[in-house]
Amino acid sequence: MKSLIIYYSKYNNNTEKVAKAIADKINADLINLNNPDRADFDIGNYSIIGFGSGVYNESLSPTLFNLIEILNLKEKNVFVFSTSCVGFKLYNKKLIKILVSKGAICKGSFACKGSFIFKGNKI
Ligand SMILES: Cc1cc2nc3c(=O)[nH]c(=O)nc-3n(C[C@H](O)[C@H](O)[C@H](O)COP(=O)(O)O)c2cc1C
Repeated sequence: MKSLIIYYSKYNNNTEKVAKAIADKINADLINLNNPDRADFDIGNYSIIGFGSGVYNESLSPTLFNLIEILNLKEKNVFVFSTSCVGFKLYNKKLIKILVSKGAICKGSFACKGSFIFKGNKI
C-alpha cells in the first residue's frame, strides 16, 4: 500500500518544501490543494495519509478542513504537519481532533517555522 500527502501551501511554498521532504523519505504521492489542475485521488489506495498546511490567521487552511469533511477516514492512519511563524504544534490540534472524530488513527504531528515577512499579506 502507498502513502499520500495532501497539503495546502500558498504564501511562500514553505509547507510544500516540508511535504516534498517527507514524500521523498516515504515515497509518497503528493496532492497540492492549491493547484487547480491537481489530479483526482482515491484514498482507498493509500495506507497512510499526511495532511499539511501553512498557518493563516491562527488556523490551518479552510480548504484542507473542507476536503477532510468529505473524506472517509475510518481506520485510516494519518499524520499532520504545519509551518507557521512560530512553528508551534498547537496549530495542528484542531485538525487532529477532526481526523480522530472521523475514525482516523493519528500517527504523528509535526510543526516547524516557515519564513514570513509581513507585508499586509492576505491569503
Ligand atoms: C495571511 C497570513 C497569515 C498568517 N498568520 C499566521 C499566524 O496566525 N500564526 C503564525 O504563526 N504564522 C502565520 N503566518 C505565517 C505562515 O504560517 C508561514 O509563513 C507559513 O510557513 C506559510 O506557509 P506556506 O508558505 O506553505 O503557505 C501567516 C502568513 C500569512 C501570509
